[in-house]
Amino acid sequence: MTDAATRDREAVEILKGNDRGRFSVPTKGLYPFQWNWDSAFAALGYSHIDPERAIVELETLGAAQWHDGMIPHIVFHTEDPGYFPGPNVWATGTEPLTSGITQPPVFMLAVAALVDRGHLSGPRLDPLLETAARWHKWFFAARRDPATNIIGVVHPWESGRDNMPDWDAALAAVNADNVQPFVRRDTGHVDAAMRPTEEQYKRYIALVEFGLSVGWDQERLMATSPFFVGDPGMAVILIRAERALARIAAAAGREDLAEAANARLPRLLSGLDAMWSEEVGAHTTYDVRTGKRGGAVSSASFLALGKDLVSSEQRERIEAHFDRQAKVCRYMAPSYDPASPEYDEKRYWRGPVWLVVNWLIATGLAEAGDAARAERLRADSEALVEAGAFHEYFSPETGAPLGGGAFTWTAAAWLDWVRG
Ligand code: SER
Repeated sequence: MTDAATRDREAVEILKGNDRGRFSVPTKGLYPFQWNWDSAFAALGYSHIDPERAIVELETLGAAQWHDGMIPHIVFHTEDPGYFPGPNVWATGTEPLTSGITQPPVFMLAVAALVDRGHLSGPRLDPLLETAARWHKWFFAARRDPATNIIGVVHPWESGRDNMPDWDAALAAVNADNVQPFVRRDTGHVDAAMRPTEEQYKRYIALVEFGLSVGWDQERLMATSPFFVGDPGMAVILIRAERALARIAAAAGREDLAEAANARLPRLLSGLDAMWSEEVGAHTTYDVRTGKRGGAVSSASFLALGKDLVSSEQRERIEAHFDRQAKVCRYMAPSYDPASPEYDEKRYWRGPVWLVVNWLIATGLAEAGDAARAERLRADSEALVEAGAFHEYFSPETGAPLGGGAFTWTAAAWLDWVRG
């Protein structure tokens, strides 16, 4: 066992090694730009060692907000041939150059943590609240199915859980016949067995080309994309972000922003409920185009164990899944149900454990008063780092470190939560 102080030092070194001045990269090589939700976690990590740097991280991300309110999933501050698809493929024409899709809105959770810890207020806070409010409103217009209030994604990359098996059916229906040959870069950095397949990658690129074909008009994209799938992960994170916005904005005298956030919440909650699968006994994805639901419990299902999100009957059924998995997994929480035939211990979001997802689940559990399950996640996360250092993800069975090494958000989750 390494002592916690040594791990603290290593975590700080990782944050500093991935620091590019005003933003962080997730890890050198594999992800050489600023990623949206990675950056919000970086700010949570920095809040413990350099709060000013944490605020700058969020300000830099906020500065990439589109005119329509979207905060994109990648900001290409620099050029780097080591990543595909780069800014020339997305061709969004924005300044700074960005991708054309979004990612889970952890941003406001990081803003709230900085405020609650006494690091952020007044003139630095107000623009960040405005940014969060514009982005949350954008989700309502550009990623909410008006018929069901379901919050969905137009690309698996938007969910942040890229190749989770529940996307497979909708992705398989995307026509990739006209995608020109391309060279992936990810498998030059990481073992191909730990990454999405070639067939999935072709369709990821077909969806980027579709976005380009509608000029990145985000409302049109939602209305016409061959892929628009409800995501319980995105929905729960947005609900938590809206609640954080309402609370912090009200305390900061921005009643206007608080009221708008509160007004959106009932429909977001009803959209989450519409993703409940009675068959699975948890929330799953919901293909808005076909009405097909995802087939199994994913780590996103456990996010609904946060405070005031589900009925007591729903809660019991989700808890039963958690407890069943906790018996068979040495390390919680697997990204996909080990009981499913689609489960794959090593392959990206088809089985491995992510510390940031554990952070999201455990902070929700703690708010809901479930200290025991929250502690199980924390202790397992600690053991994973002890066994395998600060990798991108880990095997739920052996704890083997997987994907990229020296990962910003794993180090940040350690500093913010795991070390207690
Ligand atoms: N996670 C995606 C990738 O692997 C993009 O966000 O490139």
